[in-house]
Amino acid sequence: MAKRDSRHVCQACGAVHSRWMGRCEACGEWNTVVEEAVESVAPKGVGAKGGRALVFETLEGVSATPPRATTQIAEFDRVLGGGLVAGAAVLVGGDPGIGKSTLLLQAAAALSKGKRVAYVSGEESVDQVRLRAARLGLAKARVALAATTSLRDVLSSFDAKDGPEIIVIDSIQTMYVDTLDSAPGTVAQVRACAGELIRLGKKRGIAVLLVGHVTKEGVIAGPRVLEHMVDTVLYFEGERGHQFRILRAVKNRFGPTDEIGVFEMTDGGLAEVPNPSQLFLADRRDDISGAAVFAGMEGTRPVLVEIQALVGPPVQGTARRAVIGWDSGRLAMVLAVLETRCGLVFASHDVYLNVAGGLRITEPAADLAVAAALISALTGKPVPADAVVFGEIGLAGEVRAVSQSEARLKEAAKLGFARALVPASRRRDRGGGEGSIAVLRIDDLGDLVGRLAGARSAGSRAAGERAETRS
Ligand code: TYD
Ligand code: MG
Repeated sequence: MAKRDSRHVCQACGAVHSRWMGRCEACGEWNTVVEEAVESVAPKGVGAKGGRALVFETLEGVSATPPRATTQIAEFDRVLGGGLVAGAAVLVGGDPGIGKSTLLLQAAAALSKGKRVAYVSGEESVDQVRLRAARLGLAKARVALAATTSLRDVLSSFDAKDGPEIIVIDSIQTMYVDTLDSAPGTVAQVRACAGELIRLGKKRGIAVLLVGHVTKEGVIAGPRVLEHMVDTVLYFEGERGHQFRILRAVKNRFGPTDEIGVFEMTDGGLAEVPNPSQLFLADRRDDISGAAVFAGMEGTRPVLVEIQALVGPPVQGTARRAVIGWDSGRLAMVLAVLETRCGLVFASHDVYLNVAGGLRITEPAADLAVAAALISALTGKPVPADAVVFGEIGLAGEVRAVSQSEARLKEAAKLGFARALVPASRRRDRGGGEGSIAVLRIDDLGDLVGRLAGARSAGSRAAGERAETRS
């Protein structure tokens, strides 16, 4: 009898290793490598015989734009790129308990007004889902509901002419195909199930929404192992203890990525937040030091958030640096530039940085706002309450231009800010429409320190000269 082969697969990234290891060499995650049975013998080489010659086309030509079904949840539609495309496979990933089931039940209910929608729950019983629907006031929605974990049952129910046009699978990690020996939730099972569902979707023109849990332990496969298979990858994120939830597109074959949808978790489910800036700035106090308002962009949308810094008293030994909502590597860089180029001393102080409201910022444009918050925290002088800040910082201390400054200024003006600290090299794109906001051009960090701390550092130009009022 042939020896049963097994291989060791990382449940976070799907990398295959020949032996077990505590830490995956491919993605660096700990305790994610799990032994899985090898399911099939390797296929033989195909060879050139028997295939048909390809018919090549030109790049030019008219192709029908795919029809889209709107979820009637504007924040969700935006992230999808304008609605759900027939036949598309959409993965919605997120931590357990963040609200994926709630969001998809709400979307399913809204979509059921115009389409045949089925919701398959592998995690909760029919009663549990009904209870949630009642809580959300959606009990009357015409969603076909089933609870099963057998993919074979799902496929045979939906592979029909008048089957559903949209199906929700909650979650892909609970589904299993009975032809595989691996347990549900392993990379092999998750990929096989997703593959079958995507194939069904393409064949019948069914939009398939897959829920995938992000897992910290390696027991079940994470949604990352599916990212290459689906058309659209959305992540639902938020800080625990905050009401805000952000739906972020990280891959989209039918629309732009980097778009976000902002929601608030309420007693009655997820409510849309059409103006996130107002929300993120709601609890702002304008008389304290160590805070700066960053005019950021999330996809095509400007979002203003408050960046808070706290610099502790000098400590013995190694000082702490803690960051929430931003990259700790970039904080270290901004601190190093402030120390080296501007002579400010943070080394012996604990430094804490927080993006208020639970948003995660990845833009380098936040550098200048972080620097402003740090300078203000160290000197004890508040950043002017009516100012927004944006700009990237280089290692020489120079402030670099960032994209979409018009949109940022416009949003700031709309929310009543009177001043903006922006890179000096900002391209003179006079789009207009941002109302009246005084634009203060900063060319290096010394300039910023001078403006915020009151004293000019040597070598930088006078402050007043570079201010200009736009109207
Ligand atoms: P859920 O959608 O079950 O999360 P997931 O499917 O991502 O695991 O949502 C879980 C949390 O949401 C739960 O802790 C309760 C909370 N919640 C509300 O606050 N309001 C609501 O109306 C609902 C349905 C859930
Ligand atoms: Mg759930």
